[in-house]
Amino acid sequence: MALTKNDQKLTIAMPKGRIFEEAVHFLQQAGLQVTADLQDSRKLIIPVENAKLEFIMAKPTDVPTYVEYGVADVGVVGKDVLLEEERDVYELLDLHIGYCRMMVAGLPDWKPTEALRVATKYPKIASRYFREQGQQVEVIKLNGSVELAPMIGLADRIVDIVSTGRTLRENGLVELESICEITTRLIANRASYRMKSEAVDEIAGKFLEVIPRGN
Ligand code: PRP
Repeated sequence: MALTKNDQKLTIAMPKGRIFEEAVHFLQQAGLQVTADLQDSRKLIIPVENAKLEFIMAKPTDVPTYVEYGVADVGVVGKDVLLEEERDVYELLDLHIGYCRMMVAGLPDWKPTEALRVATKYPKIASRYFREQGQQVEVIKLNGSVELAPMIGLADRIVDIVSTGRTLRENGLVELESICEITTRLIANRASYRMKSEAVDEIAGKFLEVIPRGN
C-alpha cells in the first residue's frame, strides 16, 4: 500500500520513550504500516517498504529540532517539549494522546524561607510560569528523576509532568499548582508543509480520522 498519492517521500520523527507505545498504536490505528523494526529494533532509520515513508527514531526533546531543520518533514511530539524547545515548526494537530499535566509539586507543608529554588527538566517553562506569577525563583536544570530534588534538599519545588501521579505519591510529594495540560502533537517543517503538502495533508487526514474524542 502506498501511503502517498504522489512521489513525495515523507520522513517522520518519532519520539523514543514515554509516548512511544501510544504513538505507535495511534499510527497503526491510522492505517500506517508499522513494521516490527519500529517497535523492536535499535535501528534509528526505518524505511517502510512501498510506502514512500521513513521513520527516524529520536530522543523526544530532539524531535522539534529535526523538524525545524527539515531532516524530518513531520514529527510526533509532546506539547511539553514544544513549549520548552520553542522551535520554529508548524503545529498541525493535537492527537489527544499522551495526556499529562505540567505541575508545580513539592513536599507537603514545606515552607521555603528564602527565594524559591525550583528543580526541573523544563527550565524555560518553569521560568516563564513563575515570572508570570511575579515570583522570583532560582531554576535548577536536571535531566531526570526530578522528584529527588525536594527529598534531598536541592530544591523547594519541582516543575514536572504528572501522568498517573505514581512517582509523586511514592516519593511523598504533592501537586501544588497546575501550569497546563499536555498532549501529543503532530508538527511539520514549514517548507515541507508547502512543498509536500499532498503527502503531509494525507498523513494529517489519516491521523484526524482516529483522534480520540471526548477527552
Ligand atoms: C516522567 C516525569 C515524572 C513521571 C511522571 O519521568 O518526569 O517523573 O514520568 O509519571 P507518573 O505521574 O505516571 O508517575 P520519566 O519516566 O520520563 O523519567 P525521568 O524522570 O528519567 O525523566
